[in-house]
Amino acid sequence: MPAAPERDPHIVVENLTMAFGTFVIQHDLNFTINKGDIFIIMGGSGCGKSTLLRHLVGLQAPAAGRVLYSGESLWDAEQDRREAILRKTGVTYQGGGLWSSMTLAENVALPLEQYTSLGSAEVADLAALNLSLVGLAGFEDYYPSQISGGMQKRAGLARAMALSPEVLLFDEPSAGLDPISSRLLDDLILELRDSLGATVVMVTHELASIFAVGDNGIFLDAESKSQIAVGDPRHLLSESSDPKVQRFLRRGEAAKELGSAP
Ligand SMILES: Nc1ncnc2c1ncn2[C@@H]1O[C@H](COP(=O)(O)OP(=O)(O)OP(=O)(O)O)[C@@H](O)[C@H]1O
Ligand SMILES: [Mg+2]
Repeated sequence: MPAAPERDPHIVVENLTMAFGTFVIQHDLNFTINKGDIFIIMGGSGCGKSTLLRHLVGLQAPAAGRVLYSGESLWDAEQDRREAILRKTGVTYQGGGLWSSMTLAENVALPLEQYTSLGSAEVADLAALNLSLVGLAGFEDYYPSQISGGMQKRAGLARAMALSPEVLLFDEPSAGLDPISSRLLDDLILELRDSLGATVVMVTHELASIFAVGDNGIFLDAESKSQIAVGDPRHLLSESSDPKVQRFLRRGEAAKELGSAP
């Protein structure tokens, strides 16, 4: 009976309208994120990518429409069901979000203390394990200010995956990183997807990341306040006829031409 797992719809967004009061940010969003996919949310600054992520992780309620996790509506579910669904998600926010007054181990331990009944020794072991999975073994007792930006991003990932989530959501995980660190982070995200079998939802405008890891994605437009393209970014590059999508996905080409100019 089971279909190929990677084709199973995991998160379905139906006719979603997002608004702050009467100010609509995006309307009529419709897309499906399949299990095990790395789904990219794209679009210009201010179009509503972070807002969409907040709707997916239960921080902001839709003005209209639904967000379904494995067929169950997040916002129509009872509180305890909603919490059960969200417990299976791990998220990193734009701008980091590590607690500066806590060590890396304490940061990673936080969701474990909050959501499990594990004892302190087990929590410490698991926190250390998660930090080692992102290449931060030995840095348990460091504070965020004592490590580099790339390491902070990886510590954020370690915290997001502490509860072995089924869905990982990242808002601009590689923003501000140099190309090599950014590439390593992409590899790490691919590894996490493969080892956890998780579905990944990622906001990013980094073209290298988008093409390296994206299986599917959506392009939000600030002007029309709705989606103007859905699909595998590589297909959108070759097949989308929308000039905004083309401009976004081909930014690198102009830069390359400039770089090779005499
Ligand atoms: N708390 C808020 N109250 C009112 N408006 C908000 C709030 N948060 C965001 N907005 C507005 O919603 C719109 C979308 O913001 P959002 O942060 O989702 O954009 P974004 O696509 O993530 O941008 P960026 O690429 O710069 O991160 C913006 O116009 C912003 O001003
Ligand atoms: Mg944002």
